[in-house]
Amino acid sequence: MLEPMGAFFDSRLRDYEEHQMTCIESAPEFYSFTADCLPAEPGAHILDLGCGTGLELDFYFRRNPSAKITGIDLAPGMLGELQKKFPEKELDLILGSYFDVPFGTAVFDGAVSVESLHHFTREEKIPLYARLREALKEGGYFILTDYFALSEEEEKSRRQELLRLREMQGLAEDVFYHYDTPLTVEHEAEALRAAGFTAVEILDRWGATAALKAEK
Ligand SMILES: C[S@@+](CC[C@H](N)C(=O)[O-])C[C@H]1O[C@@H](n2cnc3c(N)ncnc32)[C@H](O)[C@@H]1O
Repeated sequence: MLEPMGAFFDSRLRDYEEHQMTCIESAPEFYSFTADCLPAEPGAHILDLGCGTGLELDFYFRRNPSAKITGIDLAPGMLGELQKKFPEKELDLILGSYFDVPFGTAVFDGAVSVESLHHFTREEKIPLYARLREALKEGGYFILTDYFALSEEEEKSRRQELLRLREMQGLAEDVFYHYDTPLTVEHEAEALRAAGFTAVEILDRWGATAALKAEK
């Protein structure tokens, strides 16, 4: 049975961080790598899409303790855990979908998303990425670390399976349900370029995970 996105993560909250760090290939490496790619200037303002409990922020705050974070997530329990972990940090946590929450214009020095955007289509992502680009200051950039399909066949078959399951369960079209539908890394880079990002680069790969940098 598919579960609504926020409820899926909140119901697994107790073991969430241990699961991420031990069950995903090279997770300690890619979280640390992602944090090291983010702006190092003191007080840098970073937007985190699908921040969850903030595993990437554990690493980032070690490198940039005075960073200011705006985090958006659908799961109230995950956000509550993040707030508890960092009571002394400047966190602006927004409960909602990053497809709906306004980001503003030229607000952020950088943006990051880890293991969240593999649930959505290219068509959903292009307008999101265009708003994200608009929200970055001149010289700002987006680091996307996520899990990607290893072939176009995998990308297509997972999307078809999601549609089949949604139809079978009679699910509402406007609610996000948890099911992994990663794009290939090439299609992800195309979506970022189609949204107006000028330079899109694959920085590193760890099995099915890759880190991309998209410059405003
Ligand atoms: C696997 S967790 C990753 C959390 C964190 N970035 C990390 O790597 O530990 C995915 C997160 O994305 C959030 N998420 C999924 N779709 C979202 C959306 N449309 N808007 C906001 N958050 C979303 C989920 O609620 C969940 O907390």
